[in-house]
Amino acid sequence: MSFDLVLFGGTGDLTWRKLMPALFQAFKHGTLPQGARIIGVGRDDLSDEQYRELIHGRFAQVDLAKRPTPDEFARFCQLLEFVRMDLSKPDHYVYLRDKLAQRQVDTVVMYLATAPSLFTTICEQLAAAGLNTQHTRVVLEKPLGHDLASNRAINQAVGQVFTEHQIYRIDHYLGKPSVQNLFALRFGNALFEPLWRREHIANIQITMAEELGVEKRGAFYETTGALRDMVQNHALQLLCAIGMEPPINSHADAIRDEKLKVLRSLKPWTPESLAQDVIRGQYAAGSINGQAVPGYREELGVSPDSRTETFVALRTEISNWRWAGVPFYIRTGKRLAGRDARIVVNFRPTPHAIFNSQIGMANRLIINLQPKDGLELHLLAQAQDKRQHSSILAPVQLDLDFDKRFGAERVGAYERLLLDVIDGRLNLFVRSDEQIEAWRWVEPILKHWGADPQGPRPYASGSWGPSATSAMIARDGFCWSEEA
Ligand code: BG6
Repeated sequence: MSFDLVLFGGTGDLTWRKLMPALFQAFKHGTLPQGARIIGVGRDDLSDEQYRELIHGRFAQVDLAKRPTPDEFARFCQLLEFVRMDLSKPDHYVYLRDKLAQRQVDTVVMYLATAPSLFTTICEQLAAAGLNTQHTRVVLEKPLGHDLASNRAINQAVGQVFTEHQIYRIDHYLGKPSVQNLFALRFGNALFEPLWRREHIANIQITMAEELGVEKRGAFYETTGALRDMVQNHALQLLCAIGMEPPINSHADAIRDEKLKVLRSLKPWTPESLAQDVIRGQYAAGSINGQAVPGYREELGVSPDSRTETFVALRTEISNWRWAGVPFYIRTGKRLAGRDARIVVNFRPTPHAIFNSQIGMANRLIINLQPKDGLELHLLAQAQDKRQHSSILAPVQLDLDFDKRFGAERVGAYERLLLDVIDGRLNLFVRSDEQIEAWRWVEPILKHWGADPQGPRPYASGSWGPSATSAMIARDGFCWSEEA
């Protein structure tokens, strides 16, 4: 199946950090369909050869394991071409159309890896130049808007030009093998389903912790913050995967319908819950792995009195029959104690205790998303206490390491998602109504913060965030998994 992939933002960060390495991996694995052409679009005046050199140079900055050898790059770069475009100029789209018309392909993918403020213009211009054919697919990177109104405006503008089944909204968390494993765990096994409900689950904790700070993205991050950057999209998608009902089949809309129901069932915010159940923080100087690191306000592009949050922790509920009353805690932040993304499902204790040592202990399922991809099931077993000649219960765990089992060379998130776009599989992409519901739920938090003079709470880099986060969960009688 032949295709042309047009990368708007072809010289930008996302292209060289994520997209080119992912395309190269697919090329190396032999999964990139034959007859591919990758056209980078940018403002610079570059020849194809200069573009190839630029991308080659950038590969020196990506993970060693993802870099091509000179020989591999020489073959891969034959796919790369470059088109210089001013995205506001209609005649530049005509030029692009003529270039695409040079050959007949099955699919043309327009990948918008630019600032979202350009999405509307690009789509309108593509339509004006007749580039929205039935063979065209468009990929939209996050963040898709800044709030509910801007998200609606972008979706409406794109929807004027492309039908919903041509639109691929990326949330790269859905492309992670570990997140697909979560779907497999829930809907490929019968074991957990009877337990996956309020009667057996005490609480669920979703953690997405990063060690990195904002790096060179200070200016972008200042107007974004952790709520928009991580919670509105990645965290809520994880919450949907955990909380959704089994879909009737594996088709994109069957899955997306169920996720949408979860988003619609999220407990609405009240002034009390906004004040008590949402904590925002901002990293101060501290140390990560023994290295001193500066605070957020000292980062490049960040205002010295910034009120942007780099950490969010919150408590919510899914108000339906399966989950009513079960707290879901979400926590994400930069410059935390470790790079660690995981979902912890804490089961209720046994209804009647017959072992003394059981007090305070309950089963727990940990779904490790990264850096390691696996499952841990924490159970209790009987151990002998030799001195007292008696039996006591001791914690044991079943530990599944998927990297070991399936090999560390697994298909990465962007590689998987790009191949899905080319093949026309929408399962792992987000529908516009999901995004709208997610923004609708997030907006009261943004409004509350806008009116709250307090601003984010500082936390030391290398910690687990503001101490109020532990106090929030302790009010329910629980603690975060690393404190247990
Ligand atoms: C991106 C955010 O969507 O996800 C970044 O914009 C964040 O700020 C990144 O660092 C985290 O992704 P991952 O795959 O490294 O967990």
